[in-house]
Amino acid sequence: MTSAGVPAAIADERPSGGLFITFEGGDGVGKTTQAALLDTWLSERGRTVLRTREPGGTEVGVLIRDIVLHHRGDIAPRAEALLYAADRAHHIETVVRPALGRGEVVIQDRYLDSSVAYQGEGRQLEPAQIRELSLWAAGGLLPDLTVLLDLDHGAARRRLDADDKPFDRLEAEREDFHDRVRDRFLAIAREEPGRFLVLDASRPPANLAAAVRDRVEVLLAGIPGAQGSVGARG
Ligand code: TYD
Repeated sequence: MTSAGVPAAIADERPSGGLFITFEGGDGVGKTTQAALLDTWLSERGRTVLRTREPGGTEVGVLIRDIVLHHRGDIAPRAEALLYAADRAHHIETVVRPALGRGEVVIQDRYLDSSVAYQGEGRQLEPAQIRELSLWAAGGLLPDLTVLLDLDHGAARRRLDADDKPFDRLEAEREDFHDRVRDRFLAIAREEPGRFLVLDASRPPANLAAAVRDRVEVLLAGIPGAQGSVGARG
């Protein structure tokens, strides 16, 4: 096993130069807002940023997203796990790895930790197996940094209610499902403290953004040539 707990057989080489940052947490915790604020800050500093998301970061992924979030009938839990993994496999190979290879910063809404939390724990499949499935799908790629925005379900639900959008399949799950998801996210973060920044998502957005920037600045300082690269995008 490697230090991050990835079996050697599925761990593989990181493309050099880029930075892979993911945002995780339950529904309604403010991931998208924080991803956008980080994107703006990095772009203003001349970094090339690719903003993306799972599910739905590719054309194929948009079709898969529609199934997993909006299909009206049942989807067997294992089939749901495989759909998220299929989205991930295509997205990582065709979008994320090429961007990292070009030395870009990839800022992504949700990644494999969502599968471990939602399918592994929420759907009560085996979290360790779901992690392995995701790593297989993604060729072993782990983020340099994962920001976990942690919020209790009641507060998150009030934010979603205020949005006034109909709930998708996952959002519509019961409270105990979302409580399990939250607990699993926190457990993953405890297992990999080096990869995670855990923030209390009830803090003001500007305050959270500053904490994220502080951590990203440290990471950028560790990449040769990172401060000098130019060309903002996205
Ligand atoms: P998201 O795009 O964050 O939803 P929204 O745009 O409505 O905030 O995520 C969609 C849903 O998919 C979310 O409820 C979490 C779920 N999900 C999983 O269950 N497993 C996964 O692997 C991923 C990536 C998302």
